[in-house]
Amino acid sequence: MAQSKHDAIERNVFLMIVLTLLAVSVGGLVEIVPLFFQKSTTTAVDDKGNTLDVKPYDVKPYDALRLAGRDIYIREGCYNCHSQMIRPFRAETERYGHYSVAGEFIYDHPFQWGSKRTGPDLARVGARYSDEWQRVHLINPRDVVPESNMPAFPWLDRPLRADDIGARMAALRIVGVPYTDEDIAQAPAAVADKTELDAIVAYLQGLGLALRNVR
Ligand code: HEC
Repeated sequence: MAQSKHDAIERNVFLMIVLTLLAVSVGGLVEIVPLFFQKSTTTAVDDKGNTLDVKPYDVKPYDALRLAGRDIYIREGCYNCHSQMIRPFRAETERYGHYSVAGEFIYDHPFQWGSKRTGPDLARVGARYSDEWQRVHLINPRDVVPESNMPAFPWLDRPLRADDIGARMAALRIVGVPYTDEDIAQAPAAVADKTELDAIVAYLQGLGLALRNVR
């Protein structure tokens, strides 16, 4: 570019900002847009970590109870201390299991990856402990892990709201989660008479199972 044109850009703050934003946006889009179309980020994985063209796959949309549990997980801010993303490093895979892959999170809106780890990563905590352990731990962590500094969540042992679960599933359907009308119609009955503790334990117990036995 001719010297004078460069001069004009560098001396005009407004033009400089606009062109910078344009350059950053194009760069960003080039990285982000393909992720919406690549099979590895939009297709669920089977138990070997491969993406599949055909159903059935092991990563399924959250059922009503687990979805309610996930909402409580978000409401209680569990993500402030727990990530749900195992990085592909030996130190992580030895401790937690197979590293996380994008196809495991296609029904997570929003995802709970995070990077803050006051507590351990929970991406594969499903089935690691018994339901009873999880319940006791949430009501008072120190009852099972004496040195724990995780807060207690004693109020979770109260009835779960059942009236809005169908609406939440319908909202997720808009962003691509394949709930059927039948799933939505049956949702209130599926969570009726449950406690918030039941829901969050169901959620935790299903985390990361698809690749649980893969090394
Ligand atoms: C202030 C930080 C903090 C918050 C908030 C927090 N935790 Fe924890 N969590 C910890 C720490 C520290 C540990 C490790 C000690 C222990 O097991 O209690 C832990 C451990 C756990 C474990 C056991 C993980 C393992 O692999 O042993 C589970 C499950 C868990 N937390 C779930 C939750 C859930 C669900 C919530 C939200 C309701 C939550 N945590 C909120 C800090 C936190």
